[in-house]
Amino acid sequence: MPDIPLELPHHTYRVTVAPGALEGLAGVVRGAVPSADRVVLVTDEGVEPHHGRTVAKALQEGGVDTAVAVIPVSEKKKTLGTVRNLYEIFLENKLERGHAVVTLGGGICCDVAGFAAGTYLRGVPVIQCPTTLLAMVDASVGGKTGVNVPQGKNLIGAFHQPAAVVCDPRVLETLPERELRCGLAECLKHGVIRDPTLFDWIGANAAAILGLDEAALVELIARNVKIKADVVVADEREAGERAHLNFGHTFAHAIEATAAFGTRFKHGEAVAIGMVAAARCAQRRGLCDAAVGDRIVAAVEAVGLPSRGDGLADDAILLKAMAMDKKVRDGRIRLVLPTRIGEVVIVDDADADQVAAAWAAVRRG
Ligand SMILES: NC(=O)c1ccc[n+]([C@@H]2O[C@H](COP(=O)([O-])OP(=O)(O)OC[C@H]3O[C@@H](n4cnc5c(N)ncnc54)[C@H](O)[C@@H]3O)[C@@H](O)[C@H]2O)c1
Ligand SMILES: [Zn+2]
Repeated sequence: MPDIPLELPHHTYRVTVAPGALEGLAGVVRGAVPSADRVVLVTDEGVEPHHGRTVAKALQEGGVDTAVAVIPVSEKKKTLGTVRNLYEIFLENKLERGHAVVTLGGGICCDVAGFAAGTYLRGVPVIQCPTTLLAMVDASVGGKTGVNVPQGKNLIGAFHQPAAVVCDPRVLETLPERELRCGLAECLKHGVIRDPTLFDWIGANAAAILGLDEAALVELIARNVKIKADVVVADEREAGERAHLNFGHTFAHAIEATAAFGTRFKHGEAVAIGMVAAARCAQRRGLCDAAVGDRIVAAVEAVGLPSRGDGLADDAILLKAMAMDKKVRDGRIRLVLPTRIGEVVIVDDADADQVAAAWAAVRRG
């Protein structure tokens, strides 16, 4: 079974992708952090009823003393308050630096518990066990952790690389299909920025993936983790090419910010529309031909994601939201645009006409 190594200058860790991997979690914890005979397992309220007890039992029976902390799962509660509650639980359980935090949840849980682990006692090791496709291929790998503040999403955080990541595709059996599709938006994004073969493979294998075929899921997760890992290793602190991971996201963030956050579009759905918009913007700019956008539309629709949106805000409002995105530098909107499937470039001088063409292409009706 594939085990993907991440070799950073000061730290190496492995991402395990295997059905049933969580049954052997105690072994992974001991392998990654030999002194961790005690852990706090942080899980979220949506995951705990399905998998909390099984995973805690696997840890206990493997000889790892385990306390369980359950956190709320909403962007509203992805806050310093929740982190503070975790510090209390770590202290109550006498968690020391040689111990570890284990996460079991989606991206919110990975981010919040990862940040708590990264700051408690100036950093205790964290083992990430993502339970959504998005968290497996994106949030759990790469070391970014953090929380929201009223001024914006993920504005407070730290780089805290995990000691290990365990992706067990079997947990996806309880994940709502809409969440699975949202993870696929990030997978298609990886295809567009780095790997045309992966991009085509996802479209061709949509039925097997959505049907939770184990072999298809292992291949999907492993290939995507590898891409995210390669990008992170090349640019851990987001000084350059890690920004390619923002493909589709400046448009997506504008959609999310103007559409009463989280209600109408889930993040992955906004990313799907955002990728189409970015391709149409690139086309208007002469960076790529229409086929690139057409292929993205077809792939997005093949996995049941939207390629257009109903009721998007006016261009002026969307443009203003794009300008507020934290990736903006010196007042210029930076966009990641495709030149073909498999390659993107960063531009910071897209004009209003190019952006308007992008929005017009994804506006329904
Ligand atoms: N750190 C990073 O690099 C990074 C990258 C991408 C996204 N993120 C963050 O990730 C978050 C989004 O993560 P997400 O999409 O995983 O959403 P999420 O964490 O909100 O989880 C989505 C929902 O699915 C439920 N759930 C999770 N796993 C389940 C399972 N196996 N069975 C049943 N229900 C399950 C959760 O309880 C929740 O209700 C955002 O806050 C985003 O900022 C971080
Ligand atoms: Zn995303």
